[in-house]
Amino acid sequence: TDRVFSGIKPSGDLHLGNYLGAIRRFVPLQDTHQTIYCVVDMHAITVWQNPADLKRWTYEIAAAYIAAGLDPKKSIIFNQSQVIEHAELSWIFNCVARMGWMERMTQFKDKAGANSENVSLGLFAYPSLMAADILLYKSTAVPVGEDQRQHLELTRDIAKKFNHDFKKQIKANGHRGDFFPVTETMAAGPAMRVKSLKDGSKKMSKSDASDLSTIYMMDDADLIAKKIKRATTDADALPSEEAGLAGRAEAENLVGIYAALANRTVDEVLAEFGGQGWGVFKPALAELAVEKLAPMADEMRRHLEDPTEIENILRDGAGRARAIAEETMQAVRAIVGFVR
Ligand code: TYM
Repeated sequence: TDRVFSGIKPSGDLHLGNYLGAIRRFVPLQDTHQTIYCVVDMHAITVWQNPADLKRWTYEIAAAYIAAGLDPKKSIIFNQSQVIEHAELSWIFNCVARMGWMERMTQFKDKAGANSENVSLGLFAYPSLMAADILLYKSTAVPVGEDQRQHLELTRDIAKKFNHDFKKQIKANGHRGDFFPVTETMAAGPAMRVKSLKDGSKKMSKSDASDLSTIYMMDDADLIAKKIKRATTDADALPSEEAGLAGRAEAENLVGIYAALANRTVDEVLAEFGGQGWGVFKPALAELAVEKLAPMADEMRRHLEDPTEIENILRDGAGRARAIAEETMQAVRAIVGFVR
């Protein structure tokens, strides 16, 4: 069967981009695929994390998974560091991947900036750990936002190179065909790249300096409404079809957010709001956002007050994840030639 894997990094408070680009889309896949959802704490420490914040954000992501509708009986929900095979496979992938592949990663270049001498070695190797996350479970599909596309291409390159480099051993160990699958990127639909509410050229991110640019999953109703009201827009009315949004980044962003929250297409939303101004659209969007986000935020708060239930879910999920991971690693160790 098809296996889905995705992960979120506990490096800041969850925002609307994380919800629409990822979490929201994880839920329906539970009914059609085997689903594995991870809190990637080992990725978070590629840049400095205050340990107390790392814990808090790990719980926050697990709470969001549950509050959004992930069912720990249907999905495996766990945090990465409890399944040490992720580190083991990523080391092997570090030896498969090439320096040049990593140097081309735009996220690395953005994060390292001009000062790449002084970023962690882990930040450079980040995509190789990500490939390990996915391929440890031989996952065939990965739901993510647009910003992860390049990392998933690199995951495919690593899988292909491993399959190629160890072709003889893969066969000799009794595996038919390729050992690792070629993973599909699932990033279609509205809101795959939610923008900052203050600047339509920037993506909404966990670390934006402007308080009003980002809607957090745990913002209260008043704050959500205020941020939407103050969102930057042009002065024109809304077009009546999607093509009319071309060149209007801010308008496209808000309509895309509405469509994703309402589970409708952009054209359906514009069929309703075309010709209207922001004075009509923004209050409607604020109401919809509050309606969808507030109940989740309440449930997240309940879980965070006493994280015992979440700890149990993560521990149980880690056990189930490890059973699959260990099976893959036993085969990988044999293929690579490690003596046991
Ligand atoms: P992270 O933690 O930055 O983001 C988590 C998910 O949220 C999506 N996302 C967005 N989607 C739309 N608009 C935005 N503004 C926006 N910002 C974030 C991301 O695309 C992602 O799906 N490297 C990954 C974590 C990871 C992972 C994996 C993902 C580690 N291993 C294996 C998939 C499979 C990351 O940093 O995501």
